[in-house]
Amino acid sequence: PTSGLRRDGVLAQETHFENLKSLGSSYIAASYVKTLESAGARVIPIKVNLPKEEYERIFSYINGILLPGGGVDIIQSGYAKASKIFYDLALKAYDNGDYFPIWGTCLGFEQLTYLTSGELLLTLTETENLSLALNFSQDALNSRLFGNIPKRLYNSLSDLPITANFHDWSLSMKNFTANEKMKKFYNVLSTNTDGKVEFISTFEAYTYPIYGVQWHPEKNPFEWKRNSDISHVAEAIHVAFYMAEFFVNEARKSLHTFPDDSLEKKALIYNYNPKYTGNNSVFEQVYFFDE
Ligand SMILES: *[C@@H]1O[C@H](CO)[C@@H](O)[C@H](O)[C@H]1NC(C)=O
Ligand SMILES: *[C@@H]1O[C@H](CO)[C@@H](O)[C@H](O)[C@H]1NC(C)=O
Ligand SMILES: *[C@@H]1O[C@H](CO)[C@@H](O)[C@H](O)[C@H]1NC(C)=O
Ligand SMILES: *[C@@H]1O[C@H](CO)[C@@H](O)[C@H](O)[C@H]1NC(C)=O
Repeated sequence: PTSGLRRDGVLAQETHFENLKSLGSSYIAASYVKTLESAGARVIPIKVNLPKEEYERIFSYINGILLPGGGVDIIQSGYAKASKIFYDLALKAYDNGDYFPIWGTCLGFEQLTYLTSGELLLTLTETENLSLALNFSQDALNSRLFGNIPKRLYNSLSDLPITANFHDWSLSMKNFTANEKMKKFYNVLSTNTDGKVEFISTFEAYTYPIYGVQWHPEKNPFEWKRNSDISHVAEAIHVAFYMAEFFVNEARKSLHTFPDDSLEKKALIYNYNPKYTGNNSVFEQVYFFDE
C-alpha cells in the first residue's frame, strides 16, 4: 500500500455540555481533526446513532478510527454503541488479514477497557487538569507505539510534565492486573499516579492494532483553555505529532477505500465548519452535527 490517500474516521458523541446543546446534538472537538490532518490524513466524521449497516459501510471505506475524549456513557451512549461495532469489525477484520487500527484517547481509552473486558473496571482518581511525565514500562521501547521513538522525545516524555490529563476515571494497575482478559490483550506501555492510585496511561494491544492513551496529545498543540494545565512547550508539540504520525502510519496499512469519489467528497470533514467555542467551553473549536 503506497497510496497517500488515508482517511481516518473520528467518532462523534452526544453533546453532553448543557451550554453547547443548542449548537448540535453531537460533536467532535476540532483538535482531534487538526492533529490527524497535521499527520497527513483526511478526516471522515462518524455520527452517532446510525444503523449498524451504515457503520459497516463506513468501516469498509475508511482506514482507521479515533475514539476521542469527552464525557458520555461508555455503555449506553451512541458513542459507546458505535465504538463496539467498529471494535468488533476491526478484530474480525484483523483475524482475516485486513488491518484496521483503532486509537482511543481519554474517554476512548476508557471505552476500550470496557469493550475488551466487558466490565466497568475504572476507579476514581484525582487526575483532572494535571500534566504529568510518563512512567514508561520496561516493554515500552519494544512496543510498536514507542519502538521507534526518537531518544530525545522519549526523554522529554519521561522527564517533563507534558502529558495532559483531564479524567476523573482511570484503569488502575491493580484492576488491570486482576483481570485476565485485559492482561492477555494489552501491553502496558506507561503508568502514572495521582499520588494514591497507580493507573495505566498508555497501552497497546499485543496482537491487534489497538492503542489507548488516557492523556491528551491533541490538546498540547490545539487547546488553549485559560487556567488549564496544558503544556505548549516545543517538546509537547513534537509528542503530539509523533503520536498522530504513528496512528496515521498504522492507517496507511489499511486498504479500505470509498467505492467512488463523490461519496468520499460528501463524507469528508471539509463539508462542515467548526464553531469557535473557546469562550464558553474547554475546546477552542468544535464541529457540531445534527442527526
Ligand atoms: C477496581 O478498583 C476499585 C478500587 O480501586 C474497586 O472499587 C472496584 O471494585 C474494582 N473493579 C473491579 C471490577 O475489580
Ligand atoms: C513506575 O512504574 C513501576 C511499574 O509499574 C512502578 O513500580 C513504579 O513505582 C512507578 N514509579 C513511579 C514514580 O510512579
Ligand atoms: C489547572 O492547573 C493549573 C496548573 O496547576 C492551575 O494553575 C489552574 O488553576 C488549574 N485550573 C483549574 C480550573 O483548576
Ligand atoms: C462566544 O462567542 C460566540 C461567537 O463569537 C458568541 O456568539 C457567544 O455569544 C459567546 N459566548 C459567550 C458566553 O461569551
